[in-house]
This record gives sequence, C-alpha cells and structure tokens, in this order.
Amino acid sequence: MYKSLKHCFIVSALTLTSISSWCQTSNLVGENIAVFYPANFEASGTLPSLIFERDFVSHGKLPSKWKIKPIFSVENGKTTVKIPYDGTIDFYGNGEVTGPLKRNGTDITLWNSDSGAFSVDNGKRLYQSHPYVMGVREDGTAFGIIADNTWKQTFEISNPIKITSQGPEFRVIVIERSSPQELVKTLADLTGKMELPALWTLGYQQSRFSYVPESRVMTIADEFRSRKIPCDVLWMDIDYMDEFKVFTFDPKGFPNPKKLNDYLHSKNFKSVYMIDPGVKTQKGYFVYDQGTAGNHWVKTSEGKEFTGKVWPPITSFPDFTRPETRAWWATLYKDFMATGIDGLWNDMNEPSVFDGPGGTMPETNLHAGGGGLPGDSHLRYHNIYGFLMVKASREGIAKANPEKRPFILSRSNFLGGQKFAATWTGDNVSSWEHLKLSIPMSLTLGLSGQPISGPDIGGFLGNCTPELLGHWMALGAYYPIARNHSVAGSVDQEPWAFGTEIENVSRTAINRRYQLMPYLYTLLREASETGMPMMRPLFFDDIRDQSLREEQQAFLLGKDLLVVPRWAENPNLPKGNWNQFKLEATQDDKYQANLYIKSGAVIPIGEVIQSTADYESEIITYLINPTKKGTAEGTIYYDNGEGFGYKTNDYSMHKINVSKHNSKTLKVAVEQVSGNKKANRTSRVGYVTDDGIVYSDWSADDVIYVPIIEDSTHSIPMGKIR
Ligand code: GLC
Repeated sequence: MYKSLKHCFIVSALTLTSISSWCQTSNLVGENIAVFYPANFEASGTLPSLIFERDFVSHGKLPSKWKIKPIFSVENGKTTVKIPYDGTIDFYGNGEVTGPLKRNGTDITLWNSDSGAFSVDNGKRLYQSHPYVMGVREDGTAFGIIADNTWKQTFEISNPIKITSQGPEFRVIVIERSSPQELVKTLADLTGKMELPALWTLGYQQSRFSYVPESRVMTIADEFRSRKIPCDVLWMDIDYMDEFKVFTFDPKGFPNPKKLNDYLHSKNFKSVYMIDPGVKTQKGYFVYDQGTAGNHWVKTSEGKEFTGKVWPPITSFPDFTRPETRAWWATLYKDFMATGIDGLWNDMNEPSVFDGPGGTMPETNLHAGGGGLPGDSHLRYHNIYGFLMVKASREGIAKANPEKRPFILSRSNFLGGQKFAATWTGDNVSSWEHLKLSIPMSLTLGLSGQPISGPDIGGFLGNCTPELLGHWMALGAYYPIARNHSVAGSVDQEPWAFGTEIENVSRTAINRRYQLMPYLYTLLREASETGMPMMRPLFFDDIRDQSLREEQQAFLLGKDLLVVPRWAENPNLPKGNWNQFKLEATQDDKYQANLYIKSGAVIPIGEVIQSTADYESEIITYLINPTKKGTAEGTIYYDNGEGFGYKTNDYSMHKINVSKHNSKTLKVAVEQVSGNKKANRTSRVGYVTDDGIVYSDWSADDVIYVPIIEDSTHSIPMGKIR
C-alpha cells in the first residue's frame, strides 16, 4: 500500500502548485477506519509507524459516502494536509495542550519542549506530541484524524483543518465512530493500551524538588503517618543523585538507598526516583563509559558525539532510535531498582537541552535508527525521543522486577505512549489560572489516548498560598494521578505547610479519595482494558447535549461520579437526576469539591485507610442513586493490587444490580461476573438521598434489601450547588 505515485509528483512539480487530490489513494483498513496516502508517498520518510501497534491490512475501497477526506498538497515547500468538513463540529484532543477543552480555532506546534510555566510559543508547544484530533458532530457521532508521522508539524483547527509538516508527505488515518467514547476505545485498540498499573499509583503522592537528604524523606513519611493524612508515594527528584549522574546516589545525602526504601516500605510508602535521559559526559563514570563503548550517543550532523548542557551540566544523550541503545538502557535499571525502588520518573526527555536551539538539540543532529527504523535527523525523531526512552525504561524495570507492574511517569511522550508511561503536565505555576487549566489539560490528554495524568498539585513554579493549596488539594484528590510537587526554593507545599485549616482541608480531600478507591480502581481496570480515561468531559454524559460541549470547570470520573470544584462558576452540568452526596468520616469546609452520583448508578466505596497497603476490599459500601423505577447498577473490580495474577483470573469483578423488590423495598444484588478471586465481603448500602446518605446494616449476604425512600426527590437542580 505504500506505493509511490511518482507521476503525480512530476505533474505537480511542473505546475509548481499543489499536488492535486485525484492522485491520492485511500482504502479501508478496518470497520470505518480509512487510510489516505498522498500521491507521492515514500514509505521510508515516515514509516514504519511508531503510532500504530499493527500494520494495516486493506479491507477494500472507501464507501462513496465517506465524509472526511484529507487533501494533500505541498505549499511553500511544506507538506500540507487540509481536511475540510461540513456542518458544525466541535474539536477535542490534540494531546497535551493549554487553552480550552474545545479546540476549535486553536493551533499548536508539535515539537516537544521544556515549556516551563507553559510559556514556550504562548503555550502552543508543550512536552508531548499527539498528531491527533477528534471531531464531534452535533448528533454525537465522532471522527478521529491521525497524521501518521513524527516530524515537526503544526495543527490548525479551523475549516479546513490544516496540518503542515516539515517532513515528507505522510499518510492520514480517519476513524469514524458512533460516539466520542467509541472513538477513544478505537484509538486505544490501534495505538496500544496502558497495562493495569499497581493499586498504589492511585494513592496520594508527595513530591518536591528535592527532599534532601534521606532523613528529610523519612521525616516527611513520618509526618504523613503521625498526622493521619493518607499517602502512598514519596518522590525522589534529581538531588538524590551524585552530581546529577543518572543511576548513582549521592554518597552524602543518600548513602544507603536500600535502607531508605526499606524504611519507606516499613511505613507503607512506595518510592519513585527520577532518571533523566542525559548522561554526564565524564570518563570514568560507568554509564558514560558503557555508552561510549556501545556507540550509544546521538551524533551531530558531522557524526561526532553531541553534548549539551542539562543538570550535570555537560551531557551526552542516548540515541533511543537504536534498538541496541534501548536494550543497553534497559540493563541499567537492574541494580538501580534492586535498592527497593518502586517506580520511575523519566523527566527532561523532550529532550531538554539548556544551551541548545529552542531548548533542545539541533534539528540536524543524527539518529542511527535500526530494527527497521531508518537513520535520520533529529527533526524527524525529536518528538519520539521521550517515547522511545520510556519504551526502553519500561522494558528495563519490567525485567528488573518481573513480579511487579511497572510504573513510569514521563514528562515527554508521543501519541500511543500511554502503553509505556503515565504523565504529568510538567512545570505549571502556583496560580489560579493553572489550577483551572489543569482540568481541560487532563481531559484533553484522556481524549488523546492517555488515560491517567495529573498536574503538580499546588503548582510547581512560584510560591503556593494557603488558599490556593486548599482549593488545589480539594480538586486534586480527584485527578487520576494525585501528586503534589514544587520547585526548588519555593515555600513548602505539603498538606500541613500552611497550618491547621489547610491541613484539615487536605486530609478531608485525601480521605475522600481513599474512600473512593474501590471505584477508582475499577475505573483504572476499565482504562487498561478499553482505553477509556478515568477523567472524562461532561459531554460524555450526553453527547447530544450541546450545552456540555465546552464545560471544563467540572468533570466526570468514570461515568457515574460528577466532580464540581467549589470555585466553579455557573457550570453547565449534565441533566438528569444526579444526586449530591458527602462522604463520611470527614468534616465539610468551604474548599471541598461537590460530588454527585448519577441516577441509576452504584458507586462502591471503602473505608478511610492510610495507604493502599491497607486496602482489602472486604468492607464495601454501595452508594446507590436509584432511578424513579428503582433501578441502578455498577461494578467493582478487585485484585491483589500488584503483580500479574489478574491475567490468570486472580481477580474479581462483581456487578451490583438494584431493582424494585416490591413497592416498598429495593433489592441490591451483588454477583461475581468474572475472575476467580473470592472477595469475602461485608457490605452495606448507602442510599443517597436529598437529606444525606441513609445506610443499611452491614451484611455478609450477596443480596441486601433496603426500604425505598419515598421522600427523596433525587433531583438537586443542577447548577445549584449545595
Ligand atoms: C523539571 C521537572 C520537574 C523537576 C525538575 C528537577 O523541571 O519538570 O518536575 O522537579 O526538572 O528535576
């Protein structure tokens, strides 16, 4: 299919205008999935694809009614694709972006950049690239467009959509689906799914650039436990290293990482350590020596080893396009992880080069490729530098700890990279603007294939304030990844840093997150199986309700839980009988987000625990919000939280079914629908009413009967927040 229709190119070269669209070819490669090739397509310029899991096989010709058809051309010497469309279409996705959830009228440059404060190109260039956009029609049908190439390119979301690349012509894939949800699932089918992460990744996480020395890390751990603020993970930023040399430990500050990690484990914490791609250019340093011996470095256009400034400061960069280099990089993790490290943080992997052009390496640098990937310029491979790094890192930590589920948080990545690493949104600012922006940013990543992400809670750059931290913790408890992080030199930002009021606010919010753990873990499993993001835009509730299309102050967790931050101003909320509820075991305050359960939903919740190490799934409350007909349903997933037993059925998936038993009673039946694991649960029903949650008695039975609560209207008028 990658044939090159050279004659078309000649025609266009002669006329010096755009290549006419009649020369392009197209065909179906799946149900309602089409691929379009430009007339003079040369496969080696963009393929093999790094986006798709499998090669495409032709399923025949495009039906004549096919609507979205890219038109290829070369304008001002640049590869251009225009995609015109009819009617009103709302656009979403485009990966990691600033600005509004609805992308109409926006433009971005795909050139991964160390964009502190999201300031590069006015926020139009961030750390990751997703050459993908989703269109949603008024009737809720949706289409996705993928520009299958990694070169530097721009996306302009107007009519036509315009993609301009600095590389050669590339193919375009168009997916038509009945809804945006179906499209998100197809995107995951095509680009790869995130493997189920360990349960602890859903816990609250505390970070700082940097907690030094190790005694400080231990003090932070102790503070969480003595203050009874739940927390699962502490993060080690670059200062744990010896002179910023990756895979080393500072002999003064971190003389015994094994001891530190053992200490953290003894208190039920996990540890995540940072590894950057840049290797200090220093003879005698084992990583540098191995890299040089293996010819692993990216080269300049003259074929010499390229060096640039990062933390060490003079640094050489592994050429991750080489399979041999990825294999070598993976081996470095064995001894490193053996110190008891639980997870990995890959940063600066755009790559960031402080003294390089545009904050990275020259476009003319050379990558050797291999394994089918042609050697080519940095201009071609820049955007997948981080993607290939985390691919190698993942292989390394999976090999080092074969019994454990690998977890990597990566700053840079590329479309499809969710199968290697989760992400955070980089160096935001401690500001209200960035607090609010965090919602559309994570939603947009979710619509672009990355099901779990989150910003630095409290903001990274600048100093947080008590008020801001209170609001950010109250919202942050509901991000897929809930991690507080702050820059060196900024004021402390731990939950207790601003005194008792904000400490209490933080504890309440985090307690609520841990109570929701059964529901969150069920969503994490769903994300790994289908690609559906945990955090979803409100318009997912009703894809035809145009009033929800731009709402970005509130969001859905899964399909049944609506999160409305306290500061949201007149949000357009989904219609229907959503009912507000407050989780128990915590006091209320003026910061906490308002939570609503959808009519007809069951949300499983647990007890407040101090870390997921205590999560047993044995004591579960089923929050129910029955429809007027008395029906509701939900699911709860449970497994060991770690390891791969779940792949051989060592898990349980239960369905909770609520129905009317008689005119006065509801029947709440819990039934295992898959997996072999026994759950041995003691459960109760929490009936969400206008007057609060009414609880049944605890029961070991699979069926619980509860009286229908007639006086509940189940209809908090949406938009009116209690
Ligand atoms: C980068 C990261 C930030 C980290 C810092 C030091 O700025 O984005 O999270 O703290 O580097 O490693």
